[in-house]
Amino acid sequence: MKILIADDNSVIRTLLCGLIEQMGHQVIAVTDGNEAWDILNKKNPPQIAILDWHMPRYTGFEICKKIKEKNDLNRIYLILLTGRNQTEDIVSGLSSGANDYIVKPFNAHELAARINVGIRSVLIENELIEQKNKVNSLSKMQAIGSICARVAHEINNPLGIVYLEVEQTLDELNSEKINKGLIASSLLSIKECSKRISELVLAMRLFVQEQPEEVFVKSTTFHLVDSTLELCQSYLDENNVILKVDQPEKNFEIEFKLGQLPKVLLNLIYNSVEAMRESQDKKIHISIQADVEQVEISVLDHGTGISENIHGVIFDPFFTTDPTGKRKGLGLSIARGIIEAHGGELTLDRDSSQTRFLIRFPRYQKSSAKMQLIA
Ligand SMILES: Nc1ncnc2c1ncn2[C@@H]1O[C@H](COP(=O)(O)OP(=O)(O)O)[C@@H](O)[C@H]1O
Ligand SMILES: [Mg+2]
Repeated sequence: MKILIADDNSVIRTLLCGLIEQMGHQVIAVTDGNEAWDILNKKNPPQIAILDWHMPRYTGFEICKKIKEKNDLNRIYLILLTGRNQTEDIVSGLSSGANDYIVKPFNAHELAARINVGIRSVLIENELIEQKNKVNSLSKMQAIGSICARVAHEINNPLGIVYLEVEQTLDELNSEKINKGLIASSLLSIKECSKRISELVLAMRLFVQEQPEEVFVKSTTFHLVDSTLELCQSYLDENNVILKVDQPEKNFEIEFKLGQLPKVLLNLIYNSVEAMRESQDKKIHISIQADVEQVEISVLDHGTGISENIHGVIFDPFFTTDPTGKRKGLGLSIARGIIEAHGGELTLDRDSSQTRFLIRFPRYQKSSAKMQLIA
């Protein structure tokens, strides 16, 4: 295993290098915090780092804190090395993010034993990640399998009708007295079925289409609502639906993908409008709340409701209860994908007596490097 040693004291460095090499591991030794930080940020960094608390540029303590803040470096096992041996030093060292703490002067056997604990922990974590990836790809395969089955079913139905109509038309053409009306109605039905299939293919294309990588913008909750209303106000008016938006008086700053997040609200609104076709009380209520860290948006309607037996499948791609074939069952799965790309979650509130979807996502994104400021 690759192990990093960062210490400005050459005697300790040499001692540690010798000890770790004897244990059969590869050592990378550096003399200050900056060099250590650079190495830990490279691709395939060492999985164990022994850091001196006091060294020039970054201290070992600062590196531990920085590493724990940076998600992708979180898995490095950190051992702080220091002459400080007071309980409060040990506590603050461990709470900075270090996994272990060794006081100088150290005993070589104890240090070797602690490094071995670190190696065991790294190996267990690697194993867990590998298992998790296996489970993820297995459930992805299962999801793809069920989508394929659903799509096959959706295409097979109209295809079956086309086949029957063609058979009937051929029979009719062979008959003595051709009934033009019957042939025309068969051709119309074939046309309708072909249209259905081509719409489905189009929806699938849109679904799998790679979206160009869109950057997050710094904007506000007010802006999010305005951008959504711009897209759907006339649709709501046409359908006599009243949309009430409750938002905090304070305009909260949030970071989101401008081309995508409004689409989430839009998809929820479309579903609500559909569910209220027969309702007397055509009202949608959007309410926004935020705290320092996250935003919560609730979308509630007075429609038919969602029966409990389909709660588990409404977010599946191509799941729809629409019998006409016009709706393709992609709205919720696309919306959920967008919210997940914002580091959040889209859920159905199962405790609400009326249909209520909840969107939660962090106000600020972790990769703030790509930010653009908009007025
Ligand atoms: N607000 C709602 N009220 C009632 N049912 C809903 C609502 N939103 C979603 N659904 C149910 O979830 C299904 C999937 O929604 P969606 O993924 O948007 O696909 P689609 O709208 O094309 O059917 C809908 O067909 C409907 O049965
Ligand atoms: Mg929909």
